[in-house]
Amino acid sequence: MRPRPHQVLEVKIETADVTTIVVAPIDAEPPLVARAGQFNMLWMFGIGEVPISVSRIRRDGALVHTIRAVGVVTSALAGLDAGGVVGVRGPFGTGWDVDSAAGRDLVVVGGGIGLAPLRPVVEHVLANRGDYGRVSVLVGARTPKDIVFGEDIDQWQHSDLGVDVQVTVDVAGAEWPGHVGVVTDLIASAHFEPARTIAFVCGPEAMMRFATRALQELAVPLERIRLSAERNMQCAIAQCGHCQLGDVFVCRDGPVLAAARLLPLLAVRGR
Ligand SMILES: Cc1cc2nc3c(=O)[nH]c(=O)nc-3n(C[C@H](O)[C@H](O)[C@H](O)COP(=O)(O)OP(=O)(O)OC[C@H]3O[C@@H](n4cnc5c(N)ncnc54)[C@H](O)[C@@H]3O)c2cc1C
Ligand code: FES
Repeated sequence: MRPRPHQVLEVKIETADVTTIVVAPIDAEPPLVARAGQFNMLWMFGIGEVPISVSRIRRDGALVHTIRAVGVVTSALAGLDAGGVVGVRGPFGTGWDVDSAAGRDLVVVGGGIGLAPLRPVVEHVLANRGDYGRVSVLVGARTPKDIVFGEDIDQWQHSDLGVDVQVTVDVAGAEWPGHVGVVTDLIASAHFEPARTIAFVCGPEAMMRFATRALQELAVPLERIRLSAERNMQCAIAQCGHCQLGDVFVCRDGPVLAAARLLPLLAVRGR
């Protein structure tokens, strides 16, 4: 429960409101080790604490987090400079369990900052390309300027590892040569065999619903569509109930959950 002090080693401005920070522990304890899809609670001393996914897995004990500044705590985190200090608790929650998708086709769908927890999935698959079938990475952003990890996406697109990477934006001027429309539009034209596919989807709730529907229409089974749920969190250890959806504690049982389990709970809550 005690946040461990970490120092900011690097800061990268991704877009006008998205920043990546790399942090490492400054105490004598062993580094925290997270899996793709897990999150840490990042604590700005005197301001507050928020859940933030790991956006890259590093082997050197450093943690990488990509933050969209939407409010008090995220703005403070995004404003950190190298040398600044942040408290870290974690890692928490389930991961994407990418290894369990070995031998299958993969569809990765990220909307906006939702690409952050998915970047480690793509990087794992590229590093172990032979273990997977066809791989499609579908990325959506509001405008071209809001695309996060542009350099990574470019590398994925130009790698010779046979990964189909498509990017779309909701709104663009004439200078944007790419696709305009919602990310779920890309699903129908992606190359995968539904019967052997596992999908990983993260983004706004409405986008995850539409993505799930589009995948289901192509006959991808609901239990093989994994979503990452976002809920307000406080304790992150299944004690306070802030993140509870029915019998699910998103901090402990999620954030990654099969669509078959998560979507019925979201439907009840929305009534
Ligand atoms: C498991 C998990 C993983 C997450 N991973 C990431 C991540 O990798 N990167 C990241 O940037 N965020 C991530 N989030 C979301 C992040 O935790 C919230 O944006 C954060 O808690 C907001 O806190 P705040 O104090 O900055 O904003 P607040 O002061 O609490 O909110 C300010 C305003 O922003 C609105 N708001 C709050 N959250 C969001 C949101 N997500 N999108 C748009 N508006 C919002 C509020 O409704 C309010 O109006 C994750 C959340 C969860 C549950
Ligand atoms: S955040 Fe407290 S129960 Fe999940």
